[in-house]
Amino acid sequence: MRHLLYSILLIVAIAAAAFTIVGIPGHLSRKPPLEVFPDMDRQAKLRPAQPFDFFTNGLSSQLPPAGTVVRSSPVKTLNGEVYSYQDVPFNTGRVTGTTNFVALNPLPVGSALLQRGRGQFDIYCAPCHGGLGDGNGITKKLGVMPAVISLHDKRIIEMTDGEIFNTITHGKGLMGAYGPTVTAQDRWAIIAYTRALELSRLGSPDELSAEQRAALKK
Ligand code: HEC
Repeated sequence: MRHLLYSILLIVAIAAAAFTIVGIPGHLSRKPPLEVFPDMDRQAKLRPAQPFDFFTNGLSSQLPPAGTVVRSSPVKTLNGEVYSYQDVPFNTGRVTGTTNFVALNPLPVGSALLQRGRGQFDIYCAPCHGGLGDGNGITKKLGVMPAVISLHDKRIIEMTDGEIFNTITHGKGLMGAYGPTVTAQDRWAIIAYTRALELSRLGSPDELSAEQRAALKK
């Protein structure tokens, strides 16, 4: 009888010890777990792109290849150089160092850019804004996007190129963001083509040369 009692007490003691060390399954605790083996939970490491006197240029990781656009917040190397997101109108649509939109397309506008812009506009914008930019795209006919603004609207005509770039990049209201799908180069090409569409309704025959006017009359 006494042996049985001792056996039961021993089993209870072992179980209590096991739960004390291992814990109750499913029980949450804010205290750090008992660590028999460290499991590499803690180790010496360098955080990426932070100043650290490891490489000769003073950064913990090496700089990305030339031409890569840095997206992180500015990083200052021990040499005093600052690497940051390239704050230029081409990337942001804004005057460098300010939040003001640039008035004009930073790219030189020529027929190649307009052709490219037309192709990209027809793919990405025409479904809603229409091939003419008047807001009568296929989505209106289908009734899925009823109120699409006409790009011939006075407000859009007077809008700076930089603000339109911002709208294409980040979207507005029901319009989605096209920054992730359309490259910055193509967004500026689309803006150049949008201006050409606007001009197609704003221009007057007086702006043409005599020969062009003659050709138009035919
Ligand atoms: C899925 C439909 C859709 C597509 C595709 C689309 N838009 Fe829009 N867009 C809209 C709608 C809807 C609005 C009105 C947004 C609002 O004010 O709620 C708008 C507004 C705009 C505006 C005016 C923004 C403002 O400040 O009022 C511009 C400029 C514009 N779009 C240009 C473009 C260009 C350029 C493209 C092609 C890259 C494009 N959109 C693609 C639906 C679309």
